[in-house]
Amino acid sequence: MAENKIIAVMGATGAQGGSLVRAIMSDKSGGFIARAITRNVNSDKAKALAKLGVEVVAADADDPQSLKRAFKGAYGAFCVTFFWEHFSPEKELAHARAMAEAAKDAGLKHVIWSTLEDTRKWVPLSDDRMPTLMEKYKVPHFDAKGEANGIFTGLGLPVTLMNTSFYWDNFIYFGMGPKKGPDGKFAITLPMGEKKLPGIAAEDIGKCAYGIFKRGKEFIGKTVGIAGEHLTGSQMAAAFTKALGQEVHYNAVEPAVYRGFGFPGAEDLGNMFQFKQDFEEYFCGTRNLDFSRSLNHELQTFATWLANNKDRIPAE
Ligand SMILES: NC(=O)c1ccc[n+]([C@@H]2O[C@H](COP(=O)([O-])OP(=O)(O)OC[C@H]3O[C@@H](n4cnc5c(N)ncnc54)[C@H](OP(=O)(O)O)[C@@H]3O)[C@@H](O)[C@H]2O)c1
Repeated sequence: MAENKIIAVMGATGAQGGSLVRAIMSDKSGGFIARAITRNVNSDKAKALAKLGVEVVAADADDPQSLKRAFKGAYGAFCVTFFWEHFSPEKELAHARAMAEAAKDAGLKHVIWSTLEDTRKWVPLSDDRMPTLMEKYKVPHFDAKGEANGIFTGLGLPVTLMNTSFYWDNFIYFGMGPKKGPDGKFAITLPMGEKKLPGIAAEDIGKCAYGIFKRGKEFIGKTVGIAGEHLTGSQMAAAFTKALGQEVHYNAVEPAVYRGFGFPGAEDLGNMFQFKQDFEEYFCGTRNLDFSRSLNHELQTFATWLANNKDRIPAE
């Protein structure tokens, strides 16, 4: 029997990487096995992965040599960066470079780079529809990932650039869930007008990535986009109302208002939502639902995700 192909997974204790590790490990006859990369092999999350029979390896994206060691002997790698840990696009670029160089060094056969658009290709810095942030970005956590696409392709790697979507899990972990307004009514607040927001269950990102690894060659050198559903704020509010059994409204605010909310990353996210509004046709078009379902037959709709997660959604 052929040996299982090893996929080295960055961010394995997190949302995207963790979902890929689970997808690989739950398909015993799929021909792949996961190597989970973490900075701390002794954390509870790392130990839980080891219990699943996953090889858990220590490496830090700040230490390029450790990545080289961690990628050695693997068939492929799933690469993702960690903007919300440090809020630094420069750090994302350095981490992406370290991952790409480690992939090159190990001679990997397939790399998935979990990326997002460099919005400056659509909204140049001179375009004042939205403010320039950190001197050279419009949407810092998007732009650096998109810029890093060129690092992976420039090294001639067998790479699939995978554009992801807004995780619905943000309604649980990112403080975006329904909140009680001064009128006592629950609402979700998004600066999306009546435009559609492509969203996905974080768990489905890994399942889609696994679908890409399984189909292999077909996707090398390609850019793909994934989403579970494209929904307006009103449609999401209606789904919340149904799932939670209490009225949830959609509070559509202007991107400029959202940018002023003052929480860390508010300006970045305000620009991001404005980009998704202004380029709705492109942004939804490149995240095709049938395509995503062809990679992952278990792809969840928002209603399914809500039914599975409604008890975890804080409604304050
Ligand atoms: N939230 C959204 O809607 C959304 C949508 C699309 C894309 N994204 C992007 O997703 C990325 C984050 O992915 P995620 O949500 O899967 O992250 P996550 O759940 O926060 O987990 C990230 C994991 O990465 C590991 N990590 C952090 N720094 C590291 C380093 N220096 N070296 C090696 N590993 C490191 C950590 O593992 P250890 O502590 O075990 O080392 C952590 O568990 C962000 O860049 C974000 O922009 C988010």
